[in-house]
Amino acid sequence: MATDQHGRTINYLRVSLTDACNLRCVYCMPEHMTFRPGSALLQDDELLMLIGLFAELGFEKIRFTGGEPTLRRNLVELIRTTANTPGIKSVGLTTNGILLDYLARPLRDAGLDRVNVSLDTLDEARFRQITRWGNLRDVLAGIEAAERAGLRIKINAVPVHGFNDNGDAAELARLTLDRNWQVRFIEMMPLGGIAQFQQANVITEAQLRQRIDTALGPLAPENNGQLDGEARVYRLKGAKGTVGFISPVSNPFCAGCNRLRLLADGILRLCLLRENEVDLGKPLRAGWSRDRLSKLIRESVHQKPWGHGLADNSIALNRAMSEIGG
Ligand code: 5AD
Ligand code: SF4
Repeated sequence: MATDQHGRTINYLRVSLTDACNLRCVYCMPEHMTFRPGSALLQDDELLMLIGLFAELGFEKIRFTGGEPTLRRNLVELIRTTANTPGIKSVGLTTNGILLDYLARPLRDAGLDRVNVSLDTLDEARFRQITRWGNLRDVLAGIEAAERAGLRIKINAVPVHGFNDNGDAAELARLTLDRNWQVRFIEMMPLGGIAQFQQANVITEAQLRQRIDTALGPLAPENNGQLDGEARVYRLKGAKGTVGFISPVSNPFCAGCNRLRLLADGILRLCLLRENEVDLGKPLRAGWSRDRLSKLIRESVHQKPWGHGLADNSIALNRAMSEIGG
């Protein structure tokens, strides 16, 4: 079991498969983002070797992210091999859903358990504004395909002033009345070159809860108000699904953090909102032994910082969210 210097058990690895994306969500990246060439990314065998090392150290949950992970060639095979890796108990995918329509079934057959699909509004025009060019219908088709394939579904919405604050949250929460999904509202986090925009346009959990309450009636706490992962979870009266709030800024959950992030270029990011990183790709390509790499990973886990410094206005500027994958 891997533990950090603060006594937390770290057993969840988020793996970014590419920094590229087929959308340009305003809360995630600047409009003219440049992406890394494929040669700068870990190759499949390198990635799978590292995942194997993490699994040996007690990591049991893997989530693939991006950029947009469905743009990665061989995604289905990467998921199959990961799901079959001894020690791995759960494999998830965070995606914008655009390509899920045809990928959901093969991914499910390969061993994927769950998908988190980003969906910030049910209004076609506002969807296009917030993603800068996406088509809402592609995402809805992707979610339906995920449902048919039997994947567990969570919807991630990031509320942004001036983009999706016209009752969008209530419309998304309404989906939970007859769908067994968790619709989660994620407080916009400041990161990289667009931090000013992000901080100026954040909508807080308190504001959202009030809007949802007013439109749909009271949200009743689930699990006695205990956190489910990083989310505070509620249910609307008679609803099949749940509504979650992830509020890293107004309600930090660092004390229970159990995750590290492996980025597409081979960098291990120790905290989403801190610049602390360890390069695993370079030593791997320099021919380090499995034992030596494993030791480096264990030492890196130990170094994990306690939490973010947003309260002191310490913002990580070295990467955009799209390079980390949330
Ligand atoms: N703050 C919070 N969440 C974000 N995401 C992207 N950018 C931000 C941000 N600045 C979310 C996306 C996606 C997940 C990977 O991260 O909505 O669901
Ligand atoms: Fe792409 Fe996801 Fe970022 Fe949107 S949030 S630009 S879909 S990586």
